[in-house]
Amino acid sequence: MARRFFQVQYDEFILPSQKDQLPKGEAELIDGAWDARKNAYGVYSGFKVGSAVLTDTGEVIKGANQENIIFSGSCAERAVLDAASSAGFRNAIKKIAIAGGPEDMDIFELPEQQEEPVTPCGMCRQDIQEVEGLRGEPVVILCASRNLVRRFVGIEMLLPFGFGPSNSGLDQGVVK
Ligand code: THU
Repeated sequence: MARRFFQVQYDEFILPSQKDQLPKGEAELIDGAWDARKNAYGVYSGFKVGSAVLTDTGEVIKGANQENIIFSGSCAERAVLDAASSAGFRNAIKKIAIAGGPEDMDIFELPEQQEEPVTPCGMCRQDIQEVEGLRGEPVVILCASRNLVRRFVGIEMLLPFGFGPSNSGLDQGVVK
């Protein structure tokens, strides 16, 4: 046998002191995710998440989690990826920021709450993998809490050995 290791690399930025070390425009994208959270509908879980996507041509598209009584709602990440795709940017998704936490957590009033950034669930990771495959470049994923940003370059850092088109003998879908 051979024991192998998969290394996950990411950058952490402590907020607010290291906010200015984030690559250009990323603090604003995270602010966009917080702003998007205002439209979260997290009445059943008591959890509200916002997300913002940056496209190759500079558009910022926002989404938030949307729940329903049969618990089949959408996470913020899938909401924003669906919105971006529906607006014609399916193969041009460059960065995605995610921010959120318990419903009563207010970024501006309760700074001590929720240290751990929210990270995408498994289904959302699969969707991020899909758009990354279409674009052909690693997507930057910014997971933010009030106090910390974790910055991942490429979905492989969050979804190692993800099931992709090559595993199923299919070609990656193409946007025509
Ligand atoms: N949620 C997101 O929107 N994004 C995540 O990354 C984690 C979880 C939502 C789904 C559900 O509405 C609520 O948060 C609790 O899981």
